[in-house]
Formats: sequence, C-alpha cells, structure tokens
Amino acid sequence: MFMNLKTNTLPLLPAALCVLLGASTALRAQSTNTVEIQIKADQVASHVSPMLYGLMTEEINYSYDGGLYGELVRNRNFKEDAKDPVHWQLVQEHGGVGSSSLDASQPFNDAIPASLKLSVTQASGNQRVGVANDGFWGIPVRPNTSYRASFYAKASPGFTGPLTVAIVSGIVNNDGATVLASAQVPRVTQDWKKYEVTLTAGKAAPSAENRMVISAGTPGTVWFNLVSLFPPTWGDRPTGNRKDIMQLLADMKPAFLRFPGGNYLEGNTLATRFDWKKTIGDISERPGHMNDSWRYWSSDGMGLLEFLEWCEDLRMQPVLGVYAGYSLRGGARFAPGAELEPYVKEALEEIEYVTGDAGTTWGARRAKDGHPAPFPLEYVEVGNEDNADRQVGSYEGRFAQFFDAIKAKYPKLKVIATTLVTTRAADVIDEHYYRRSEEEMAFHANDYDTRRRTGQPVFVGEWATRVGDPTPNMSAALGDAAWMVGMERNSDLVIMASYAPLFVNVNKGGMQWVTDMIGYDTMSSYGSPSYYAQKMFSVYHGDDVVPIAAQGIPTKEWQPPAGRGGFIPPPQTPGRAGTAQPPGPQGAARGGGRGNQPAGPQQPAMPLQVPLMFFDATRDSKTGTIYVKVVNRAATPQSVHIAVSGVAAVEPGGQAITMSASSPADTNSITEPAKIVPIVRTVDGLSTNFSRTFPPYSISVLEMRAK
Ligand code: AHR
Repeated sequence: MFMNLKTNTLPLLPAALCVLLGASTALRAQSTNTVEIQIKADQVASHVSPMLYGLMTEEINYSYDGGLYGELVRNRNFKEDAKDPVHWQLVQEHGGVGSSSLDASQPFNDAIPASLKLSVTQASGNQRVGVANDGFWGIPVRPNTSYRASFYAKASPGFTGPLTVAIVSGIVNNDGATVLASAQVPRVTQDWKKYEVTLTAGKAAPSAENRMVISAGTPGTVWFNLVSLFPPTWGDRPTGNRKDIMQLLADMKPAFLRFPGGNYLEGNTLATRFDWKKTIGDISERPGHMNDSWRYWSSDGMGLLEFLEWCEDLRMQPVLGVYAGYSLRGGARFAPGAELEPYVKEALEEIEYVTGDAGTTWGARRAKDGHPAPFPLEYVEVGNEDNADRQVGSYEGRFAQFFDAIKAKYPKLKVIATTLVTTRAADVIDEHYYRRSEEEMAFHANDYDTRRRTGQPVFVGEWATRVGDPTPNMSAALGDAAWMVGMERNSDLVIMASYAPLFVNVNKGGMQWVTDMIGYDTMSSYGSPSYYAQKMFSVYHGDDVVPIAAQGIPTKEWQPPAGRGGFIPPPQTPGRAGTAQPPGPQGAARGGGRGNQPAGPQQPAMPLQVPLMFFDATRDSKTGTIYVKVVNRAATPQSVHIAVSGVAAVEPGGQAITMSASSPADTNSITEPAKIVPIVRTVDGLSTNFSRTFPPYSISVLEMRAK
C-alpha cells in the first residue's frame, strides 16, 4: 500500500507515527522483522528545493575572531578593554627595561581612540624590550609557512627603531624563547604609518603555544595600533578566512549562508547590534563592538563585505538578515512609523551595498571597498526570532514597514519573516527548532508531512538536536538525520534549512552555546557526526522527491521529560488556512536559546512511541539515479526489503554511503576528529527487489542507477 506522505493521517496517533506506519504495525516494536519499503520511481511527489541545504552563521563561540576569520592577533586595536591592553604583555629580555600601557593621548583615528605605548628605558647589546600578543589561545605556526604581519606605529622624537617583528615560542614572557620567524622594520617615523613584513617559519614543528612580539633594542618611545598577523588564507584573500574550516564548509556544498545572526544581529542594545556600516572599509577604520549577546568583543573583521565574499568563495547565495528595529529582550524597540524609519533606510542602504551597481551611492562604496561587481541577492530576512519580544505582536507593524519599503524598491527580493505575520504576505517564514534529545527530534521528524500547503514556504533557519558537548555526538546526528529526512521529503514546503550554531572554538572559554556543528582549536578543526550527516544529505540527493511507503517500522517508547520546558506533543490539526502555521508548541531551547516557537503550557508528559527508522527517496531527473536515505536509530541491525516500481531495471552495482557508530554516545573531537565519518562503498546486488541490512545507529544513502 502506498500512502501519500503529505496528507494521510490516522487521527488517534501522533503525527510522526501516522505518516510512516501502517495502522496494523503502529506502536509495535518489530526489530526482528524485515521492514518493507516501496519506492515509486516514476512518480514525482514534489521537488527538492535547490536551496534546501545551507548554512547559518553569527559571531558565537568565537566563530570568526578566533575561528574562521584568519586574524591571529587578539585585541588588535586595543578596544577589548578600555583600561588595559588585554592579550598584550610587556617583553623585557636579557635585562632590557621598559613599560607598556594604553595611551588615550595618542588616538589612532575616530574609531580607535587609544594606542599601545611602549617606552624602552634600558636596551643595549642583546637586551630587548617589546610587546607580545598571545593571540586566540596562542599563535599557530606551521613549517615552511609565511605570515603577513602589519601594524601602525608612531615614534617619539629621537626614536627611529629598528623594530623586530617575530613569532616566538611560549605563551608567557620568557628569555629562553625560540624565534620561529622574524623580520625587521628598519626605521619608524613620528607620524602614524603602516608597516608590513612577511614572517616565514622554516622547519618549525607545528605548534600553537607561541606569541607575536614587536620589540626594540634601543631606548625611546613608540606607539602601536592595528597590529595584525594573517596566515595563508582561503583564496589568498589578504584578510581572509582559515583554510581548514573553509574546506570543511566547501565539502558540504551549501546553497546559501544566512548571516549575520541570530542574536548577534540584534545585540542587547541598539549600540551593540550588528551595525553594518561600522563593519566595512579598511580594517583600520572598523571600531569593532561588544558582542553582548554572546559576551565577548567582536573585531568586525568579518564585516558585511567579508560575509559576501565568503558566499562568493563557496558559491553560496547570501541570505541577508537586516536589523529590524528590535534588540534582545526589548533592549531597543522602535515603534512603526517615523521612529522605525531610520532602520528601514539603513536596511535599504545595506541592500544597495550588496546589489547596487557602482552608479549607486552604496554600490560605489562597495566598489571602493574592493568589490566592484554587485552580489546576487534573492532573500532578505527582517530581524531574528521576533516572536520572543515580550511586547507580543510588536513585529507585525515593524515587519510591515520593512516589507513595504523593500518591495517598493526591490520588488524581486523575497522577504523572510521571523515569525508569523498577518498584515503582509511574507514570502517565507523562518522557523527554529532546537530539540533536547534524539527522541524528541525523531518524534518531530515527520511534522511537515501534515502541514497545509496553502501557506508560505518555510525556512528552517536554525535547528539542531542538542546532544553532545561541545559538538554533537552520534545520537544527535541520528536525530538530525531523521529531521532532515522529513525536511527533504517535504521540500516543496521547506525550501531552505540551516543547522545552528555552525562553529565552536573548543578551547577553554571558547563556547557560549553547547552542541555546535564544527569544532576547532588554534591548529585544527573537525566535523561532528552531525556535520557528516549534513554533508551526506546535502551532497547526495536528486531533484525530485519520489513517493516512498514503509511498513513494519520498529518503534521505541520515549518518556518526554516533564516540567518546565518539558516536551508536549503537537496537536494533530493542520495549520491555519493561508499561513504556514507550525503544528504546535515546541520545546524551548536548552542553554539560553529561545527558538522562535513559544514554549507550551505546563502539562504532564505522556509516554510516546517514536519510530526507530526513517526513509526518503529522491531521484535525479536527468540521470535517473535514485537516492534512498535510511536512518536506523535502533541498537540492532535492521533488514530492509526495498521494492522499486516504475523503472525497467536497477543496475546491480551502486554506491552506499554509510555512517555508523557502536554507541550513540560515540563522537568526534579535536583529538579524535575522524572517529565517525561516512564510508563510501561500491555495492552489488541492487535491483528492483532486494534486501539490505542497515547497521545499528546508522545513517545511509543508497545510490542506485535506474534504467
Ligand atoms: O543559535 C543560537 C541562538 O539561538 C541564535 O542566536 C538565536 O537566533 C537562537 O535563539
């Protein structure tokens, strides 16, 4: 029997079960029976949105500073702390004597009001006095690698240098430090001037426990600002991105990048929002800002243009989030009308910066900033999680004002709303789902099967199964894969999706939000099992969703946690006509996350039966290749009988891509980065009627060539 996976519901069962289970098998654990699936390969249930798999990013967990953005110097313009030059230390070698301090009497420019003053009182022979930066958990050095160092300096009368710029071993001031790379600036002047040198490490062993030092061997005073050090970057951009992390992203083949947040877009106040105009231009002109939503300083080196170039480098479409006149917890909230207008104007100018040609004011500014060609832009999102505002309904009027202005100037742009709106027809609704367990995510995996198709398309702009610290483990990946099966199968409705958060610096103090897709430290990076699950889904799929039916799916009882934040099953009723109404209250996110669905009322949680297996099938309309995704959450191998109709034959040889673990708690880490990865194998014995056993705790894609 084939069921229409979108509409067939059995009224007394939770939606997730109704869709995939035949009535006779529902609620019965059948781990020893063969599961049956039937694929109708000549039918098209819907299409896979070409934008389905993308990325969401913001400055959280040291995503850019200390993460993707290549800058190695921390607190490069001394703004992290108004009193102390944090992350900078005085260096006094071999009896050299001096002092260093922040000096507001030597402003660098309007954006950077204080400089680092170095006074050398005693230095001769091999004595040296300088300042050292300890980077973001150290300065990484690799053998035979060149680093671009630059800084601005201004000397007191009588001091001309020379200055030595070096990367030295050790993260504290020590006389025995080894110089790993060094260069000289022969002469400095009494006016602010930029100095650039290349530091090349020779045979040095790879290490992170290093500092960058600028030092003098003669007495005098010199001020520094905007001290910078970049390793080789992706695409050789002078102030570009870390190569290893970009490679991980490139391998996912993401279709879009949603930026700049997230809470980071909103900030806790107007002054601490992502103020895009302060993030463009030369890095010496960017003041940076306190990222108070995630409680650390942002250099804004990753500014608007860098986000766009990141998109360009990985061929992703930008999904531009614009500040919507609201900061977190009502830290700023501008009433529709004249009060809100400056922020609407700001958003229109931002769009012009992205898309305008050089004849427009902001297009010309982008050209001046180094990118004459406009960027493609199809989607603009107004705000972030605006349902979280305690002043219920405040978004309605704000959204309307942004929507009208954007549509008037840019009629082709699609405008995304961050929660349901009624007075304007938003082109897309952004929904966020953070689940606290694999079971909770699996329970919801089929939610979209029963969503009405009469409303707006959905962008699942943030979602994750939050199991694993700092990065998700296999249990989380299984929940994620179940959820992705549901989104892919319903991709006529869910047109875009992005996991969040994307990054975490796993060094102590680097994480503000537990369970993040990609982890890294100063030297290396790794993908979590959830990363690899994403990659499998993003890389292996066709463009048509073909009908698939299943019988005999084993289930497992799950007791949702009771109490505050406890899970409450969604009601069975489909959404309001004409809207993309979420099916019901969703659990609040763990660890400070809001999610953009309201938490439900207190109510005792009932035990639920949750499927242990999930399936979907897609077909490439050009090549005929069929991709069958199978998620087996069970602790035992599962034999699945697969019947394919509507094609003359399936070639016996194909490919199986499988990721499995011996325990759901298994995971990858910075020290064991590839414990769980997908394995690609050629397989035999495929046909229109065959059986295959799927390992315990596994996510698989079967790639079958149909004729
Ligand atoms: O992804 C972490 C946070 O969760 C985002 O900043 C916010 O949009 C959500 O609440």
